[in-house]
Amino acid sequence: MNILAIETSCDETSAAIVKDGRIILVNVVATSIQMHQKYGGIVPEVAARKQLEFMIPVLNETIQQFNNSTINNIDAIAVTVGPGLIGSLLVGVETAKTLAYAWNKPLIPVNHVLAHPYAAFITKSDKRKAISNNNLTIQQFSNSTIQFPIISLVVSGGHTELYFMQDEKSMKWIDGTLDDAAGECFDKCARLLGLKYPGGPEIAAAAAKYQIPNTKYKPFLPRPMIHDDSLNFSFSGLKTAVLREVKKIAECHSRESGNLIDPRVKPEDDILINSLAHEVQESITDVLVKKTLQAAEKYSVKSIIVSGGVAANQRLKQKINSELLILNSKLSVHVPPPHLCVDTAAYIASYAYFHNNPVDWRKIEAQPDLDVEVGG
Ligand code: KG4
Ligand code: ZN
Repeated sequence: MNILAIETSCDETSAAIVKDGRIILVNVVATSIQMHQKYGGIVPEVAARKQLEFMIPVLNETIQQFNNSTINNIDAIAVTVGPGLIGSLLVGVETAKTLAYAWNKPLIPVNHVLAHPYAAFITKSDKRKAISNNNLTIQQFSNSTIQFPIISLVVSGGHTELYFMQDEKSMKWIDGTLDDAAGECFDKCARLLGLKYPGGPEIAAAAAKYQIPNTKYKPFLPRPMIHDDSLNFSFSGLKTAVLREVKKIAECHSRESGNLIDPRVKPEDDILINSLAHEVQESITDVLVKKTLQAAEKYSVKSIIVSGGVAANQRLKQKINSELLILNSKLSVHVPPPHLCVDTAAYIASYAYFHNNPVDWRKIEAQPDLDVEVGG
């Protein structure tokens, strides 16, 4: 079964054709991220306008790359209906509804957050066709099947959620963040450190430059809720702790120079920035790993899936694996390759395949606040 999926929940415009929920035939992604960087975060109005601009070219490219096939070879259409930015969502939803009507295909509405973990079920890209507009290298993914039950951590810019999956069709929400999401925390801390948006990759890059013997400055940030028995997260306090550190640095500067306090770290403070970035990454990943393993133990699962933009963080992956090694655990961990952690239509198609619940296109609409706390 070939599903053509469309994803436009935020700043990525993506279309993909995926076979049987696991094999990417085509995956095209365009992004307006550069447009938002100068504002330090996503500007919804700009994102929506770019979605409109990119949607048809992305769709065209997708259909063209499906070159030796015809529309008849597409069995269904899937689309992200929420959660996300209303202006962005509307573009994908209305496009998908139009295609479903014009081509007379079933239309499957998809919850973007619930779809993220399905990136881990994608086993490979078709070698002939898996190219994208940003020259992704063709990847051969692991063919090992993921054993159920699963604990699934979704960590993105807007969400930090834990789910229990009994099989491919079932997702039961367990707990999530009480305030900021992990990605949001990376982004806000990066901004305080004078780093670019999106903050996650920037913090990771700065943290990689951190060298212990090079600095006497060793900040310590809290690990919010790490000793709490619940499986909730809370990241807003971390950003406040970083702000305190940044102010301390600024106060030192002002004492030295006699200038007024400028609550920003200066670019020449490279070593300080790298130390703080390192500590931010350690704090967030410590909490994510601890809670995920706690959930895995509580629900006696066989596997863990970590997905969403923050799952592209190498330190997170490394930490969860080394923790399992220390615990001599048989749990297997599955993290999609980085280009399937961030927003793309590939796993929207995969989720649609496994759930396969089409809805009359007349009844489908964009739902910016779509609930992610699902299951009973
Ligand atoms: O899933 P995603 O692409 O979009 C949403 O659905 O929100 O996630 C975006 C988030 C951003 O907050 C970004 O800073 C974070 O994922 N991110 C990372 C990394 N790459 C992206 N966070 C930490 N380390 C990374 N390497
Ligand atoms: Zn996402």
